[in-house]
Amino acid sequence: RMIKGYNRPGAHFSPPAGWVNDPNGLIFFEGYYHLYYQYDPDGLTHGAMHWGHARSTDLIHWEYLPVALYPDEHGEIFSGSMVYDRDNTSGFGTDAHGPLVAVFTHHREWGESVIQSQSLAYSLDGGNTFLKYAGNPVLNPGLRDFRDPKVFYHEPKERWIMVLSAGQEVQIYSSGNLKEWEYESTFKSGDQEPGEIWECPDLFPMALEDDKTAEPSQRGQVWILTVSVIIPERKYSCVRYFTGIFNGRKFIAQTPAGEKRILDFGYDFYAPVTYENVRGRRILMGWQNRWAYAEMLPAVKYRGTMSFPRELKLKKSGKDYRLAQYPVRELFEAAKPYPARTDKAAILLPGQPCYITMELPLRDETREFRLTNERNCLKILVNTKTKELEINRTSAFPDELGKEWLCRKISQREMKHPEYLHLLLDTNSVELFWGEGEAVCSMLYYAESDLTELLPDNQEVRYKLYRIPGKGD
Ligand code: FRU
Repeated sequence: RMIKGYNRPGAHFSPPAGWVNDPNGLIFFEGYYHLYYQYDPDGLTHGAMHWGHARSTDLIHWEYLPVALYPDEHGEIFSGSMVYDRDNTSGFGTDAHGPLVAVFTHHREWGESVIQSQSLAYSLDGGNTFLKYAGNPVLNPGLRDFRDPKVFYHEPKERWIMVLSAGQEVQIYSSGNLKEWEYESTFKSGDQEPGEIWECPDLFPMALEDDKTAEPSQRGQVWILTVSVIIPERKYSCVRYFTGIFNGRKFIAQTPAGEKRILDFGYDFYAPVTYENVRGRRILMGWQNRWAYAEMLPAVKYRGTMSFPRELKLKKSGKDYRLAQYPVRELFEAAKPYPARTDKAAILLPGQPCYITMELPLRDETREFRLTNERNCLKILVNTKTKELEINRTSAFPDELGKEWLCRKISQREMKHPEYLHLLLDTNSVELFWGEGEAVCSMLYYAESDLTELLPDNQEVRYKLYRIPGKGD
């Protein structure tokens, strides 16, 4: 039988064929948002990793491009990032045309042994084709878990900074030319669990949304460190973030000890990193999946999708900072309002992909909403007593992947009246943005056809519906 989940999402990246995991090398350059990604073009599970490539002008519709990086004598190509070396510090380009430089992990495996090292490839044609640096690898202490370099230019110190994961910690290196790297410092949180591994770190500054200080350089800067955490044998994973300061050499966390900040409460969000070279906003994209079952999801031609890109905002709560996330504004520029028609008790949905905004008066009761077709249903519950929100995909997810993944509860400290829920619903995923994006929950689902109706409980709710058009629609 045909499961709709095999159909491609309309507003999320999926690869032409084959296996995809982490987004890599996210960079905005000459009008295009580039997306490179962990890719095995010939398999439906994690295999020989390449960097696939796609680009977009609106972060919604993606154009497929040829594979950018192939495995070579140093190994497979694992995750990494991309920078625009404007001043040609690397010497790969010319003074007039600085190169794009990819910094990635070479993963070499033989017998029981694994070595992960960091390498370079450069592009002189705007990110379409790459040459590998002859001096690869550029950073190789001979470690097994040493990967996922994220590089950015630090103006005050006039140095390139690399954050990467080294087993249970994040290490920071710096360089003047991208080729020679010096160790600077190590960051650990001190609350790691046994067996935990850190992957795909990112480090970037944010200014408070409502900071009106005229001079950008005078604005209070807060540094954010994000990291994907996994305990393979317990199938546990999540994405954490820390707020703090970075002095060009060392990250010092200021998140209160004992508090775990989670970037996404859903089961399907991992390995996110932010775009480089974007002016004025910080855009984050992750792999819309979970290692616990990623290789077993229903699939025909390809397996794996990316999250919808989000813009990050920094908010102050007391003396402390938190991140809020919201779909990038391109979504709202493309979205077409769709009249909220009702058929008996149901609100008719425009088909997927769509965007739904709900304004709920919250008194003391539990609210329940169902997104349904004749056979499948996603349930959303808002419990004002326990201050919990719940997404239940029991009748829209293969339970042979593990019953523990069917239902997700999220708690946020406060609930407001009225409360706002925003849903980005695509053919096989739902991303829920709670309030002003203070909590986000990403969940995959599998349904046999589009979810056509929204069934509210019988209390007053205000809806706004939008359909997200396809290319040229
Ligand atoms: C995270 C990850 C990275 C690694 C890549 C390999 O999902 O395990 O740490 O570089 O996937 O594909």
